[in-house]
Amino acid sequence: MLGIIGGSGLYQIDGIKILDEIAIETPFGEPSDKYIITEYEGRKVVFLPRHGKGHKYPPHLINFRANIWGFRKLGVNKILSISAVGGINPSLKPGDFVISDQFIDFTKSRVQTFYEGVCSKNDDTEIKDEVSEFLKNKRVVHIDVTNPFCPEMRDVLIKVCDKNNFPFHQKCVYAATEGPRLETSAEIKFLGLIGADIVGMTLVPEIVLARELKMHFASISVVTNLAAGISQNRLTSDEVVEMMKEKNEQIKTVVLDFIEN
Ligand code: HPA
Repeated sequence: MLGIIGGSGLYQIDGIKILDEIAIETPFGEPSDKYIITEYEGRKVVFLPRHGKGHKYPPHLINFRANIWGFRKLGVNKILSISAVGGINPSLKPGDFVISDQFIDFTKSRVQTFYEGVCSKNDDTEIKDEVSEFLKNKRVVHIDVTNPFCPEMRDVLIKVCDKNNFPFHQKCVYAATEGPRLETSAEIKFLGLIGADIVGMTLVPEIVLARELKMHFASISVVTNLAAGISQNRLTSDEVVEMMKEKNEQIKTVVLDFIEN
């Protein structure tokens, strides 16, 4: 089953039937919001707004472990992640879609693993058992992320963008920063020099945790702005929100076509 992490309201698409909204309890705390269980052309798809309704969680405070665990509990084995990014590579323009194929991680204070022994903070035995069952004898695990993104899901995204004539780039290195502040121009210059094409605050540890649970994962981002120092203007979050709104219909088309494929 497919899970989609994106902005709120993404599931409000003609043809997508909302079957249920489910609050999930996890050993790692509360996910960002209720999971929206939907059906489209006979397929069940689960949506979760990454920042919660009303955008209540900033990137560094998103409970990524709870979000991913909740998907797993619902039986999701593939995650499509939709996000906003700043463009570093000069060939990228605001409004372009980018389908990442690598990431570089500069986050600083986020828990990036499920494998740290049985969750000792939680007293709920049933929940503890759920974690122990998963961890079993694998308390120390170093997953391979040489190629972190699912090639088949990436191919579908490429096909969908191509078919719809959306402006897109199919190979991008995503630099993940901690936020919530934006970057300095020196940081963006550095990220560009080491090979990053785009910068954002949410891919890591989302992808890492999904991969730990053996889920397939692909990401499509909208370049909402040119990154700091590349843009001549001061950056504002309004700019990001405006561009995501502007691209909303195209994002919905990507979602529908992706589900169909
Ligand atoms: N930097 C980091 N994250 C972002 C940006 C940016 O410029 N734009 C959208 N998300």
